[in-house]
Amino acid sequence: ISTVEVDLSQIAVGQSVTVTWRGRPVFIRHRTPEEIAQAVKDDSVSLRDQQTDAVRVQRPDWLIVVGICTHLGCIPLGQKPGEPRGEFGGWFCPCHGSQYDTSGRARKGPAPSNLVVPPYAFVTDTQVKIG
Ligand code: FES
Repeated sequence: ISTVEVDLSQIAVGQSVTVTWRGRPVFIRHRTPEEIAQAVKDDSVSLRDQQTDAVRVQRPDWLIVVGICTHLGCIPLGQKPGEPRGEFGGWFCPCHGSQYDTSGRARKGPAPSNLVVPPYAFVTDTQVKIG
């Protein structure tokens, strides 16, 4: 299947889910106001793959990224409660220690670029179509 539709209505603020799109994990995070604020604040720091948070999200409370580390393709941790999220509150790759922030941007470790934002569209307020 080339697209996947996800019902967002059951995903609470602060919660993350992983869906599969074209055989790949896609991370959907319902960001908290604090996570959004941190992401926007960090727009001004020097990044290896410079992108503002605004170009990475369609709606600030929903971050949607392909869950594959841009270093060598491991699946970063941070989706499940209790998993390490690294120093920047996003994701931590257990393979070689790359760290991503609350916008999915590469911040530390060998990852050369940000987690990829897949094509997606909001079908309704609570329904998103990925792909
Ligand atoms: Fe993630 Fe190497 S694959 S840090």
